Amino acid sequence: TQEEVYRASTYAPVNIAVIKYWGKKNVELNTPTNSSLSVTLSQDDLRTHTTALCSVETAKDSLTLNGKDQDISGARTQACFRELRALRKELESKDASLPKLADMKLKIVSENNFPTAAGLASSAAGFAALVRAIANLYQLPSSPADLSRIARQGSGSACRSLFGGYSAWEQGSQADGSDSAAYEVAPASHWPEMRAAILVASAEKKDVSSTAGMQLTVATSPLFQERIKNVVPKRMKAMEKAVHDRDFESFAALTMKDSNNFHACCMDTFPPIFYMNSTSHAAIRLCDAINAAADKTVCAYTFDAGPNAVVYYLAENETQVAGAIKAVLGDKTGWEDKRGQSIKAAGTPL
Ligand code: PMV
Repeated sequence: TQEEVYRASTYAPVNIAVIKYWGKKNVELNTPTNSSLSVTLSQDDLRTHTTALCSVETAKDSLTLNGKDQDISGARTQACFRELRALRKELESKDASLPKLADMKLKIVSENNFPTAAGLASSAAGFAALVRAIANLYQLPSSPADLSRIARQGSGSACRSLFGGYSAWEQGSQADGSDSAAYEVAPASHWPEMRAAILVASAEKKDVSSTAGMQLTVATSPLFQERIKNVVPKRMKAMEKAVHDRDFESFAALTMKDSNNFHACCMDTFPPIFYMNSTSHAAIRLCDAINAAADKTVCAYTFDAGPNAVVYYLAENETQVAGAIKAVLGDKTGWEDKRGQSIKAAGTPL
């Protein structure tokens, strides 16, 4: 009928890279200068919930995030809408009985249960949920890999949130970006002992957006050229092996080194970009001290485009790691209430 409202909802989890994506090869297609690998966090803890609706009555495309209207005129959001509508059109052209959803406007309603744009990969969960909610609404037969190719155009890191567990984004070599998609390295069940503690140093919006930051790094940092040519390709292989072998020591060393290398490239950008602050540096020292006290590597820090630390560790070391973090940070200022919160890594999206 005229008034019929079509709707679909989904959750998408946050993922935190252990081999970082930084740098765009093609800005329009949003393809990266290097492959990356991440751990998907449990969607019970950090996630975006998104509902996509459409009806003939819907007046315009819109997106609200935590109740606030968002600007959707940007090329990246538009690319996602366009690709999904084209796929729906294709279905409708093959089956005349299908309602003409591709011609209707979309109303997207999203809720994050964590701070937005504070280096907690909010755009990753956000675009993954947006793309899957619309794909569900349109009843597209697309695979997670297909959807990851679309989500990539919204936000690079989003493509990895279409998979649970351990996922990677293959940079691809095709000029049209058709092979720049995510794949599953291992399901969550392969290494279910993985845990993450999020240390919130600041819940404020980051001052340099990842897009602006990356472009400046690509244009000005000689260290970054070394990173994409000689550092990341070897680390991707080693990290996949560490995950396959459930080798925490290797996983941790690679994670910390890659975070350091990424932030060194930010520092080597001209003018330099500082995502970490003195609280972040204290978190690094704390992890170093925890590992030294354990006489082996029991935790690994990593930082995205913001000052908040994500610390990976195994469940068997919960007391040693999360306990030590809580003990030290308990009487420090500058950390939010959620400090030291232990969350389960490697959730599986719906
Ligand atoms: O997806 P974007 O454009 O927000 O970039 C994310 C970049 C990092 O979070 C710093 C690294 C990564 O691989 O997620």
